[in-house]
Amino acid sequence: MTPDTRPVILTGDRPTGPLHLGHYAGSLKNRVALQHSHRQYLLIADTQALTDNADDPDKVRRNILEVALDYLAVGIDPAATTICLQSALPALAELTLLYMNFVTVARLERNPTIKTEIVQRGFGRDIPAGFLCYPVAQAADITGFKAHVVPVGEDQAPLIEQTNEIVRRVNRQAGRELLPEAAALIPEVGRLPGIDGKAKMSKSQGNAIALSASADEISHAVRQMFTDPGHLRAADPGRVEGNVVFTYLDAFDADRAEVENLKARYRQGGLGDMVVKRRLEDVLQALLAPIRDRRARHADDLGYVMDVLREGTALARATTQATLDDVRAGLGLFALT
Ligand code: TRP
Repeated sequence: MTPDTRPVILTGDRPTGPLHLGHYAGSLKNRVALQHSHRQYLLIADTQALTDNADDPDKVRRNILEVALDYLAVGIDPAATTICLQSALPALAELTLLYMNFVTVARLERNPTIKTEIVQRGFGRDIPAGFLCYPVAQAADITGFKAHVVPVGEDQAPLIEQTNEIVRRVNRQAGRELLPEAAALIPEVGRLPGIDGKAKMSKSQGNAIALSASADEISHAVRQMFTDPGHLRAADPGRVEGNVVFTYLDAFDADRAEVENLKARYRQGGLGDMVVKRRLEDVLQALLAPIRDRRARHADDLGYVMDVLREGTALARATTQATLDDVRAGLGLFALT
């Protein structure tokens, strides 16, 4: 057998709710595109989800199969991609413990993602230690698979940077290239705003379109969508920047020339919001209908989804344990033989 020399991808999602169009544009699309040219692992990060949901483990547990369904629905092929469950990979917890010694509390407190999330979650001064340290656990996720590429949204970039700092320190201590540095793969379209125009699409903000949205929910969301508040009549010139309908067309409409044509006409005046929204609705309905159908088919056979998760996790357990063995040796732990 020839060795697998493809670069390794590891990325993951917290199972706290259904995945939505923001996840699709930010990462899922890249994962589907790269799953054959790369050796890909997808981690359902339930232990990370507990770092701010320890009081609601039910929510996390309920959403594990939902996330797996979303993966299968968008076209993740379990024959190519390994889907696995974080809490069933004890080597990741042990790597986290070892990596804790290669990061300072001050550095964790300075992590921009963590800083933003602490405010969003209203922790004040009562930050769970598990939450503050989740970037270390995420470094364990990424390096546990010796990943080279991490497809994520741009809000995750500081976590990849943090991972690479840990990698360099661990490698220096080991005196060799024990772990590879990882590159974040961030989509060019940038972060997808919510339908209300707020900076981020998120279920908790109620401004998301779920991948499992019904045709009616999609229509409703597009009708509600934020455009240019100054564009009162179709005849008026309108703004394309910050106009969510155009941001979504940029992200999802394959016909670039037509989008540019619509933008020009909108800027000039004479093109109504309804016309542009109708086009976006067509684009989103066409994108999401097959995803919704595939999801429904798999939801009827959860035994299969469980099998995928069980087999993927068994494989991932071996991969991450092998990395842990390397790291333990590299860091000079006592080998009890
Ligand atoms: N922090 C990521 C998020 O909130 C989820 C995640 C967990 C992840 N482990 C990861 C992403 C490893 C990339 C790599 O979306």
